[in-house]
Amino acid sequence: MTPSGDQVRFAGLDTPFAPLGVGTWAWGDKSTWGMGGYDATLTEATIAEAWEASIAAGVTLFDTAEVYGGGESERIIGRLLASSGVDRDRLVIATKFMPAPWKLDVGKALRRAALASLDRLGIERIDLYQLHGPVSLRSHRALADALAAVVDEGLVAAVGVSNYSARETESIHAALAQRNVALATNQIELSLLRRRPENVGLLDTCRRLGVVPLAYSPIGQGRLTGKYSAANPPPGNRDFSAHPWEKIDPIVAELRSLGETHDGRTPSQVALRWLIQKGAVPIPGAKNARQAGDNAGALGWALTPDEMDRLDAVALDGTTSLKHRFWQHG
Ligand SMILES: NC(=O)c1ccc[n+]([C@@H]2O[C@H](COP(=O)([O-])OP(=O)(O)OC[C@H]3O[C@@H](n4cnc5c(N)ncnc54)[C@H](OP(=O)(O)O)[C@@H]3O)[C@@H](O)[C@H]2O)c1
Repeated sequence: MTPSGDQVRFAGLDTPFAPLGVGTWAWGDKSTWGMGGYDATLTEATIAEAWEASIAAGVTLFDTAEVYGGGESERIIGRLLASSGVDRDRLVIATKFMPAPWKLDVGKALRRAALASLDRLGIERIDLYQLHGPVSLRSHRALADALAAVVDEGLVAAVGVSNYSARETESIHAALAQRNVALATNQIELSLLRRRPENVGLLDTCRRLGVVPLAYSPIGQGRLTGKYSAANPPPGNRDFSAHPWEKIDPIVAELRSLGETHDGRTPSQVALRWLIQKGAVPIPGAKNARQAGDNAGALGWALTPDEMDRLDAVALDGTTSLKHRFWQHG
C-alpha cells in the first residue's frame, strides 16, 4: 500500500478496496452510540445515507460484529444490501465471532455464529470473518481449525483476528498456515491517541506476515474530530482512549494546523490519513452522510514525511487501563 492510497486486498479475498472502511458499531446500538436513545439524529435513514455516501466515495469495506446492537448492525447491513441495489461484488463485508470463554466447543460455536451472521446479513459468504478478541480458553490450534473449517465449507473467504498482540498474531498465523489458510487481518485500536501497536512492534509484525492492520476507533470515538472538548465531552459510554483533555487538545491543534495547509482538510481526515500512511486501514464509524463523506476525504492525497513526523511527535502511546489490558493485547 502506498501513501497515494492504492487499493488493498486481504489474503484469501480477490476483491480490491480503498484503504479505508466504515465501522458500523453505532448502527443499531443504543448504549454507547445512542440510536433510539440520546442521539435522536441517528436513524436507519441517516445510516442508509452514510452507506450510500461511503460507496459513492469509493469506500466499500464495512465492519460489523455479531454483538453490535445484539445483531442489529448486521440486520441493518442486510436490509441495505437488499434495498440499495449496490453491486455486492464490489463490497467487502467483515464481521466477527465473539469467542467467549464458555464456548468450549469452539468449532461448533463458530460455525453456528457464522451461519447466524450470514442469515442476518442476507449473504452467501462472509468476506472477512474475525475473532473479536483474545478471550477464548481454547488453543490457537483449535481456533485455527474452527476458522479453517468455515473457509473450507465456503461460508467465509478471508479470516482475521482482533485485539491480538504481536506474539498472538504470530502464533495464530502459524496455526492457520498449518491448515493452508492465511491470516488476513488484525483489528486493533490504533490512532493518534493510541500509537502503542506501532511502539511495541505489532505493526512491524503485521507487515512481515502480510497481515493488514485494521485501525479501530481511529478518530478516538469522536475526540479527534475537533468537535468535542473538556466542556463538551462525547456523550454515551465511550471509554476508548478517554485521555484527559489537556493531552488531547495539542493533537487536535496539530491536526487543524496540518489540515489548513492541505486545502482545509478536517482534523478527522488528517488523523485518518496518518493511519493510512502507517500501512493501516482505518475503519471510522459514520452515523450520517456528512460524516461518511468527511471521512472519505482521507483518500487521494498525502502527508509529507515531515508532516508524518510532526504527528508522530504529538501522538500518545495510550497505555491502557486494567480493563483494556484484558481485552487489547495489541
Ligand atoms: N474490534 C474491536 O474490539 C472494536 C472496538 C471498537 C470499535 N471497533 C470497530 O471500529 C469502528 C470505529 O470505531 P469507533 O466507532 O469506536 O470510533 P471512531 O470511528 O473513532 O468514532 C466514531 C464516531 O465519531 C463520530 N464521527 C465519525 N466521523 C465523524 C466526522 N467526520 N466528523 C465528526 N464526527 C464524526 C461519530 O459519533 P458522534 O457523531 O456521536 O460523535 C462516530 O460514531 C467501530 O464502528 C467498529 O466497527 C472494533
